[in-house]
Amino acid sequence: MKKNNVILIGFMGSGKTSVGKSLAERLSYHFKDTDKLLEQRVRDTISNIFAVHGEEYFRSLETELIRELREDMDHTVLSTGGGLPIREINSSILKDMGYVVYLRASKETTLKRLAKDTGRPLLQVDNQDKKIEDMLRIRTPIYESVAHEIVDTDDKSIDEIANLIMRSYRGL
Ligand code: S3P
Repeated sequence: MKKNNVILIGFMGSGKTSVGKSLAERLSYHFKDTDKLLEQRVRDTISNIFAVHGEEYFRSLETELIRELREDMDHTVLSTGGGLPIREINSSILKDMGYVVYLRASKETTLKRLAKDTGRPLLQVDNQDKKIEDMLRIRTPIYESVAHEIVDTDDKSIDEIANLIMRSYRGL
C-alpha cells in the first residue's frame, strides 16, 4: 500500500465526495473523484453513459481510469463511484494505490439521502427500498474486505468523519 493517498469507498450517498473534499483540505492533498473524472473524459453525464452504452461499458471506463491513476496519483484523496470496488481487478488496484476507507451507511440513512436523487441510474426504479437492500447485501462484504479502515457514518457529521480518518491515517 502506498502511504500517500487516501481512497474512499462506499455505497451511493455515503458521503465520499463531501468527506473527501474536507479530508483533502485538512491534509493539504489534491482531491479527485472518479465519477467527475469520467464525466470530464467522455464529456457526458453518468446517467447518459449508462443509458447509451450500458453499465458494463461504464465499468470498463472505471477500470481504465484507476489503472492510469495508479501510475501517477500522489498526495491525493480519491473518492470512488459506489460500484467501483465490486470488480475484483479494481479492488486490488485500489488497495495498492493507498489507504482505503469504507464509509459505511445503513439502508435507512442511504434511503433518506437518495430518495429524491435523479443522477444515479441504478436507483431509478419503483422499489428503491428493495433495490438498495439487495445491492447492500451483495456489496457490503466486498467493501469490508477491501477496506483498511471502516467508518460508520450514520450519526456523524462530515467534519467528524474527516477527523476520524485524519487521526488513523496520521497514525499509520
Ligand atoms: C454507482 C455509483 C455512482 C456512479 C454510478 C454507479 C454504483 O457513484 O458511479 O451511478 O454502482 O454504486 P456514487 O457512489 O458517487 O453515487
